[in-house]
Amino acid sequence: MKVAIGVDHGGIHLKPALIKYLEKRGIEYKDFGTFCEDSCDYNDYGEAVAKAVAKGEFDYGILICGTGIGMSIVANKIKGIRCAHCHDVFSAKATRQHNDANMLAFGERVIGAGLMVEIVDAFLNTDFSGEERHVRRVSKIKALEDKNFS
Ligand code: RB5
Repeated sequence: MKVAIGVDHGGIHLKPALIKYLEKRGIEYKDFGTFCEDSCDYNDYGEAVAKAVAKGEFDYGILICGTGIGMSIVANKIKGIRCAHCHDVFSAKATRQHNDANMLAFGERVIGAGLMVEIVDAFLNTDFSGEERHVRRVSKIKALEDKNFS
C-alpha cells in the first residue's frame, strides 16, 4: 500500500504522529509537505496529493489542516478523488465501505493524535463493500464528474 500525505501549517504538529503510525505499520508513504510552521495555503498541498492519488501513483491520500475542511474541499475538486472529512472512526470505516473514498482529511485543531491514529487505521484497513447499491452510487459520482469536470 502506498500513501501520499500533505499538511498545511494548521496540520503540521499532527504530522509526526501520522508518520510514526505509517512507519510502524511498514506502510510506504510520500510526504508532500509542508515542512515548516510558516503560514501557507492548504490549496497547494491538497492539490498536489490529490493529483498524485488521481494519477494512480498512490492508493490513498491523507490530508491535515486546521479543520480538515479546506483540504477536503480542494481534494474533491480533482477528478477521481473522493475525499472524506472524518473526525470519528465510524465515518472513516463507513466512507471506505460505502463511498470507496480514496482520501481522508481531518483537522489538527479538532482531534488529537490518539483519535487520529484510530481513524487512519480504520480508513486504511477497511475495504469497499462492493455491494450493488454502493457500486451504483459511486458510479453515479463518477458520471457526475464526467458531466461537470473538464
Ligand atoms: C489555516 O489557518 C486554516 O484556515 C487551515 O488550516 C484550514 O483549517 C482551512 O480549512
